[in-house]
Amino acid sequence: MAFIKIHQLTKHFTDQLQPAVDRFELEIEQGEIITLLGPSGCGKTTTLRMIAGFEQPSVGSIQIGDQLVYDMFSFLPPEKRGIGMVFQDYALFPHLTIAKNVAFGLSKWKNSEKKQRVQEVLELVGLADFGDRYPHQLSGGQQQRVALARALAPRPHVVLMDEPFSNLDAGLREKMRVDVMDILRKACTTAIIVTHDQKDAFAISDRVVVMNQGVIQQIASPREMYRCPKNCFVAQFVGKTNLLSGQLSADLKHVDTHIGKVCLPHQTVGSLTDVTVSIRPEGCKIVEQGRYNGEVEKVIYGGEYQELQLKVTTDSHTFESIILYAPIDQDIEIGCRISFDITPELVAVVEQ
Ligand SMILES: Nc1ncnc2c1ncn2[C@@H]1O[C@H](COP(=O)(O)OP(=O)(O)OP(=O)(O)O)[C@@H](O)[C@H]1O
Ligand SMILES: [Mg+2]
Repeated sequence: MAFIKIHQLTKHFTDQLQPAVDRFELEIEQGEIITLLGPSGCGKTTTLRMIAGFEQPSVGSIQIGDQLVYDMFSFLPPEKRGIGMVFQDYALFPHLTIAKNVAFGLSKWKNSEKKQRVQEVLELVGLADFGDRYPHQLSGGQQQRVALARALAPRPHVVLMDEPFSNLDAGLREKMRVDVMDILRKACTTAIIVTHDQKDAFAISDRVVVMNQGVIQQIASPREMYRCPKNCFVAQFVGKTNLLSGQLSADLKHVDTHIGKVCLPHQTVGSLTDVTVSIRPEGCKIVEQGRYNGEVEKVIYGGEYQELQLKVTTDSHTFESIILYAPIDQDIEIGCRISFDITPELVAVVEQ
C-alpha cells in the first residue's frame, strides 16, 4: 500500500481566477524520492506547502503513513505531520552551533539520545567534525547538508525540499545533487523535492511529476519521461525535442511526416490519425547515407557536443528545422549537408 496518498488536492487562492493547484493526485511508496518539476508559477511550492501543512487546501485529502493529515474534516498542524522541511535559504540559526541547529527538532528527546542522534546525522551528511562550528563558518554546500541533517534528525516520515540547489553555483550544484541523493538513500527517507531544473529532477528522483498551470502533466521515471513524453509540453519542457506533425500508419508502426516516414519504437495505441511525434535530438544519428538529409543552418558549440540546426527539405518543398547533436571532434560548417537516421527508441507520439 502507498505510504503517502494525495487525492484531488486543490488550492484556489481567492484573488486568482485559475486554481494554483488543480486536482493533484499522487501516491508515493516508502523510501521513494519524488520531484515536482515545472515552470515558474505552476504550483510546485503551493503543493509542497499544503503537504507540509503551511497552506490550507481548498479541496482534497492528504495521508502520510497511517495518519490522515488533511481532509474536509481534519487538519493536522505541520509539527504533528512527521515532516522534515529543508528551506531554500536553509534557514539555519546563525547564533547556534551546527550541533545545536541539528538538535533543534529533538527538544523532546533525552539528552544522551539527542547527542547520539546529532552525531549520527552529522556523520550521515559527512560533517561529523563540524558540530562546534557556526553556520557562517561553513560553505554553501555544507550549510545545505546541515539543513538536511536537521530535517532528518527526528526521523521524519518524509523530507520536503523546496528548490534545494538554487543557491549553489553550477559545479557545487552538480555535486550536491549526488550528495543529497546518497544521503536520502542511506537514510531510507521518503522525499518530495521541488525544482524547476530538469537536470536536478532527473539526477535525484525515482519518479518525476511534471506540472503546468497547476495541473499534473505526467508522472514517470526520468527515463520514461524522456523517452515517452506524454504531451508536447512535457516533451519540450524536459530536454530538447523536435515536434513534427504527421499521419499515423494503419498498422500503428510509423508516422508519415513532412520529412518522410518516422518509425515508432512500438505499436502506439490511439484512435487518431493526425498526430504529433517528438523526436529527441539524440535520436537523430549522423550517418554516411541516411534516410534523411539536411543543410546545416546553425552550429552551437556545447563543449561536450555540438548542437546542429538542420534545414530538412520536405516532400512539399518547404523546410523543417531539425535539431540534432554531433560529436565534438567532427568538423561541421554552416551550409554543409548532413545525412542522418532516426532511432525509433527516442521517438514518441505525443498529445497536443
Ligand atoms: N499566497 C498566495 N496568494 C495568492 N496567490 C498565490 C499565493 N501563493 C502563490 N500564489 C499563486 O499561485 C500560483 C502558483 O505559485 P507557486 O509558488 O506554487 O509556484 P511555483 O511552481 O513554486 O513557482 P516558482 O518556480 O516560481 O517558485 C502562482 O500563480 C502564484 O502567483
Ligand atoms: Mg516555488
